[in-house]
Order: sequence, then structure tokens, then C-alpha cells
Amino acid sequence: MPYRFDRRTFLQGGTAGLGALALGAHPWRRAARWAAAGPASTDDRLAWWREARFGLFLHWGLYSTLAGEWGARTDYAEWIRNSAHIPLAEYERLLGRFNPTRFDADRWVSLAKDAGMRYVTITTKHHDGFALFDSKLTGFCVRATPFRRDIMREMADACRRQGLRMCWYHSIMDWHHPDYLPRRDWEAETRPVDGARYARFVRYLHGQVTELLTNYGDVGVMWFDGNWEETWTHEMGKTLYERCRTLQPSVIVNNRVEGWSPAPITDHLGDFRTPEQEVPATGWPGVDWESCITMNRNWGYNSHDHDFKPAARLIGLLVETASKGGNLLLNVGPRADGTFPEESVERLQAIGRWMAVNGSAIYGTTASPFASAPFRATAQGNRLFLFVTDWPTAACGATGVELRVPGLRTPVRAATLLADPDRRPLACATTDAGAVVTLPPDAPDAVCSVVALEFERPPEVAR
Ligand code: GLC
Repeated sequence: MPYRFDRRTFLQGGTAGLGALALGAHPWRRAARWAAAGPASTDDRLAWWREARFGLFLHWGLYSTLAGEWGARTDYAEWIRNSAHIPLAEYERLLGRFNPTRFDADRWVSLAKDAGMRYVTITTKHHDGFALFDSKLTGFCVRATPFRRDIMREMADACRRQGLRMCWYHSIMDWHHPDYLPRRDWEAETRPVDGARYARFVRYLHGQVTELLTNYGDVGVMWFDGNWEETWTHEMGKTLYERCRTLQPSVIVNNRVEGWSPAPITDHLGDFRTPEQEVPATGWPGVDWESCITMNRNWGYNSHDHDFKPAARLIGLLVETASKGGNLLLNVGPRADGTFPEESVERLQAIGRWMAVNGSAIYGTTASPFASAPFRATAQGNRLFLFVTDWPTAACGATGVELRVPGLRTPVRAATLLADPDRRPLACATTDAGAVVTLPPDAPDAVCSVVALEFERPPEVAR
């Protein structure tokens, strides 16, 4: 019996039940991870990414021109060709409509940068097979549109100018290439598989990955997706991982490079796991991961989808991922004209205002050492950061409120609020149960205020 994946678990990165992540034994443990030959150690390669903590995900392509609409329905996005059963020839006609005259890579990158993001991961090709870069291996790319410009080149250059890492999303599944198999079941008759050779598709995939890792300078992450069909095997995943590392020894590769295997996989591929639309309940100690999450309901642009999470909720998600030791890849689906939806811009700006004050509690930090506390936290060397969203209530007329820090064993050298530009010291008492910090009666930030605690040495917390 071949081993079958549950797609969701598979996306996250592994066949091991997530609840069964026993420390020390799991193949995703950093030390035990399968590694291709290459000069850089995993820790060296991942150093910038662990420091960065926060990136922008961009889903953009031909589907953006449809804005989610087909026939009577208005709830589609980047899956529209498959979900609405759009025949290939009809979908190809969208090439003539892709003309994002308002696209400005520097504007996108500065929106990300001002939000406090340190990297940008963009769809170079989604499942529909359309390449947003100038690929010599297909006519189904941006060169064949009225726009013609190589979007990846402009994004890579803008990122370099502004000091962000450029990362490529690339779908293995391809609904356009004649050699990709399987066909969607609804198009089996109109697109017969006669003559299709998957091995030729794999060569094409390698060719495009080679273009992406050769023509645009240093790439931060190769972020594969669409790996769950049984034609894509574990061995193919290994070869593709190796290809990436050979072309760019320092590149980081996500776990969705992994392929199907007839037996449970013991040598998982990729450098980090990719939970989708969720933050894992307790984080995964010893494992690198990045939660990718949409701002509204869809990854690709849908003009009817105004169901955006409030900025406070997005800041909460960023705090939650950091406090559990992961990265957050927050998605924007740009419009076909090359602009971001207003709602996305407003949210990026609100996150940026919060990050400008509190970013030092996110970048380069590790997971909260507290087993249970009335706040989320991150750690960094001799410092702890406490994210207080439920500000303690002040007794009538009181000049301060008490924040209990349960289990803290190391004496606090200094306690301050990151939102206080003067960094006035907060009173702090050590008790048998931990510490008690006296805060002003009102929260400085309506969403989440950060208390920074400094110590003489790395703090100890009883769990
Ligand atoms: C899924 C979807 C896809 C989206 C991705 C983001 O795999 O197929 O549309 O790009 O997740 O994580």
C-alpha cells in the first residue's frame, strides 16, 4: 500500500503526526536534517532568515486580471482556471490583458520595508503555469503580454536597492505545460495526455529554476509549492533541492520541494516548514518554520473580497509567530494594474507604525520561555520582551498597575516600555513566584505594548 499524504500535514512538512513531534527523534530536528553538500552550514544559511522574522508574500499573475470573477461566481482567485474549468485556450487569451502599467517594484518593496518586513516572496509561476519572468523556455510568460517587462528583474533590483531579500515562490504543479501530469480530471477529454512525458516536464522545471537562480543575483529562498500530486516523487524533490543548492549554495529551500513516496519519509527535505493559514499551537522547538497567512480570504486578487483582518489582528499574528519561534509571511494579492488593494496598504502601514516602535522585540528573537503567562514573549540574549495586550486594570486613583511575570528566576536589571522614548525605568520586584513589574495605569499602545526586561545574564524561567 503506498503511503498517502494528508495534504495539509504535507504542506506543513512531514508525514510525522504533528502531535508526535518528539524532541530529539524527529527528522526535522536541525542537527539531523538531510543536507546537500555545500559550503554553508544550515545555521549559517538560515541566520538572516531567523533574524528577519517577517516577510511579504505576493500572489500575482494572469488570474489577477479576472479579479476573482468567472460566469456568475465572484469567489475565485489564483485557482480560477481549475475551479471555474476555464479551457486552456481561453485562459491563454488573458496574456493579451496582462498590462500592469502602474506596477512599480520600488513602491511594493518600500511598502514591505516600511511595514518592517525583511524579505519578499513572489510568485514567479503559480499553478496556472504563467511565468512572470522572462523565461527562455516557454512562450507562456510575461514577455508574451503587452507589458513585456521582466517583473522578477525589477523586483530583484528593487529589493537589492532597498536592502530586502528577494525570494521566489515557484509552483511544481503546472496546469499549462503539455508534459505535466496528471491533467485536471475536468479537462481529460480536451487535453489528452497522449505523448505527454513527465520526465520532460521535470527538465523544464529544472530549466526554469536554473533561470531563476542564475539570472537575478542572490536569491534568499526558493519557496516551492504544488508538490502534492503523485507524479512528483521524493527522489525528484531531492534532485531539485540539490540543484538549488548547487546553483546557489546559500539559498534556503522550503519543505514543499518534497515529493510523494511509497513509504514513510525519514529524510525530510527542505530547510523550513510552511504551515498555511495557521500558527502552530505550540510552535515546533528545534524546527524552523514560517506561517503563511492571507490578509483577507484569498491569496490572489479578488475584487469582491473585503474581508480583511484588522491591523490589530495581523500585529497579533506577528507577535504570536515570533513568540512561538517562527516567521510570518503575510500575503498581499496585487491588482492587475500593478497596485496593492487599499486595505492591504493601510494594514501594512499600521503594522509598520507598530514595528517602528516595537520591532526590536521581533527581529532576531527566539520563542517565549514562559509555559504560561498573561502575555506573549520573545527572548534575545540577556533580554526578554513581554507583549501586553490585556493591560492590567488600575484600581481607582492608582498611579500604576502590576504585571506579574510568573516563574522568572533571574533578577531584572532594568525594565522599560519600548513605547517610552525616554526609556524611564519601571519599578520591578522579585518574588518567590517570579517578578512583578509596575506599569503606568494606561497602555501606551492600544493594540499591544512591549515591556523590555534586561538581565545580567540570559534569564532563567521555571516552566
Ligand atoms: C496553496 C495553494 C496556493 C497558495 C499557497 C500558499 O498551496 O494551492 O494557491 O499559493 O498555498 O501557501
